[in-house]
Amino acid sequence: MAEFLGDWKRTCYAGEADESLIDKETIVMGWVNTRRDFGGLIFVDLRDRSGILQIVFDSSVIKDDFRKAEKLRSEYVIAVQGKIRRRSEDTINPKIKTGTIELLATAVKILSDADTPPFELNDVDLVNEPLRLKYRYLELRTPRLQEIMRVRNLVCKISRDYLSKNGFWEIETPYLGKSTPEGARDYLVPSRVHPGSFYALSQSPQLYKQILMISGFDRYYQIARCFRDEDLRANRQPEFTQIDLEMSFVDNEEDVMTMTEGMIKELFEKIKGIQLPEKLPRLTYQEAMNRFGSDKPDTRFGLELIDISDLAQDCGFKVFSDAVKNGGSVRMINAKGFVKGYNPILSRRDIDALTDFVKIFRAKGLAWIAVKEDGIQSVITKFMPEETTQAILKRADAEAGDILFFGADKDEIVFDALGALRLKLGQTAGLIDQSRYDALWITDFPLLEYSEEEKRYVAKHHPFTSPKNQDLELLEKEPQKVRAKAYDLVINGAEVGGGSLRIFDRDIQNKMFKALGLTDEQIADRFGFFVNAFKYGTPPHGGLAFGLDRLVMLLADTDNIKDVIPFPKVQNASDLMTGAPDKVEPRQLQELSIKIALE
Ligand code: AMO
Ligand code: AMP
Repeated sequence: MAEFLGDWKRTCYAGEADESLIDKETIVMGWVNTRRDFGGLIFVDLRDRSGILQIVFDSSVIKDDFRKAEKLRSEYVIAVQGKIRRRSEDTINPKIKTGTIELLATAVKILSDADTPPFELNDVDLVNEPLRLKYRYLELRTPRLQEIMRVRNLVCKISRDYLSKNGFWEIETPYLGKSTPEGARDYLVPSRVHPGSFYALSQSPQLYKQILMISGFDRYYQIARCFRDEDLRANRQPEFTQIDLEMSFVDNEEDVMTMTEGMIKELFEKIKGIQLPEKLPRLTYQEAMNRFGSDKPDTRFGLELIDISDLAQDCGFKVFSDAVKNGGSVRMINAKGFVKGYNPILSRRDIDALTDFVKIFRAKGLAWIAVKEDGIQSVITKFMPEETTQAILKRADAEAGDILFFGADKDEIVFDALGALRLKLGQTAGLIDQSRYDALWITDFPLLEYSEEEKRYVAKHHPFTSPKNQDLELLEKEPQKVRAKAYDLVINGAEVGGGSLRIFDRDIQNKMFKALGLTDEQIADRFGFFVNAFKYGTPPHGGLAFGLDRLVMLLADTDNIKDVIPFPKVQNASDLMTGAPDKVEPRQLQELSIKIALE
């Protein structure tokens, strides 16, 4: 039978008890983490959100309640009254914050007993993920996840304080909205009242926040849940959270970047004690691609890409020269010192494996030149004149022990393959300083990208992103060349935020829709309400959204997005704790006028 707390009031958290409380009457409450029984003496580590405190049940002190102490097992919930005392020298535990003290119990209440948990909380690392997620409430009790949730809470609080201080109002926007094209796949919600019609769960508050600017709120923010039915990857979840914001009367990307990098700096300083640079570096999209093969470069290490298209175009090696002739490029990475000595970082077998690796990124192969103490090794140098080989080695600053890897193809493929290879090489050789946080802005993104699948241009960001003024006239003739007033914040190779200045001129918006191949009917049907709103006085505006989950990942030093979300979904988008998604009652389907076509 559970006992009631009655008039017991907690006097402090277990992990916060300290020597100032010695000899003071204390009441703590929490879970039995471990219990050791020495006959007339029982030691319990009591755990709450703040940490652990050792409780001593001494049968000669606690008298009648000792029988209750004997019943305690892992995960029982108890309240303990007693006095804090100093531990004897030989029992001090330097591993915990409260290691020099303990609570000598005078009374105990068992508030809840507990079945034997399906796994030992102290050995959670050995437990497979499905089991942990099924019993997520148990996993969440572990100090690591409690700490991550504490950080998550801090991120929300510090962001709110910062934005509020800077004149942003927290305003909510609907989750049940209208399905609009041009984003990821929607999660649809059937309407009971309008049979056959559907809401779409908001993929982001984008349209609403722009309308809030038209409504005159000047500066808005929201910690908003977003829903996207995409294939899950390492740092993606189907529902995730954005710190979303928008500001009016801004005319320059810098206005938004300066405002929001202030928030990021404050987060790093207050949570990790890390001072990011006064002004974060800015890199154009093109430069990021040329140097790192990625628009979210991890700049904590070198191994930058080097363009050798000029040397390769007439070099005689067809793979190279054809790539350049077909409008592509040849680029290389000098993996410096990777084949040095008898026990090199890369063995011959590793090098072959890298060829398979780049094929994931559609590369057709991975040519290489290894510079050994006794000369060069390569299957490609015999196809080109000696001067070309020498010129390549010179450009790479190659020395004995280096190996050069080459990509030759359309730019897109070369960047993808070498960008991924660069990361892999950096990881393999341990070149990435894990204690470092490199934050930078990527700017001047292309406005559009060509979709082979849809045979038309699609917005790289979204259809409301403003083109650069100086590129406006290219929109009709050379749309692929138009740059956007868009920016992404990248930290340690992760895209943690992105935004843009928006189109606020109706003519430009229409041109943009045209460039995307949308017909007047499609525009009216899908974006009519939005386009209409712009007719009634629209301030210039722009904004950005940070991925809250990704920020917490960085600040809590985890590369698993599931760690930072209390109740995450797995790869196939299901929730292993509740079993969602699940079948529903026929009656519910009937109400929604829905028939399931599957067998
Ligand atoms: P975007 O789609 O780039 O921009 O999203 C902003 C940030 O949200 C994070 N993010 C995700 N995090 C976890 N799981 C996902 N599936 C996921 N998708 C995105 C990323 C990303 O940088 N409305 C615009 C913002 C704007 O223009 O103001 C938007 O949603 O960290
Ligand atoms: P091949 O002449 O196709 O046998 O290729 C010779 C070498 O060039 C091999 O090491 C291939 O892996 C490499 N190679 C082939 N195609 C490409 C490419 N598009 N980019 C870089 N290397 C390539």
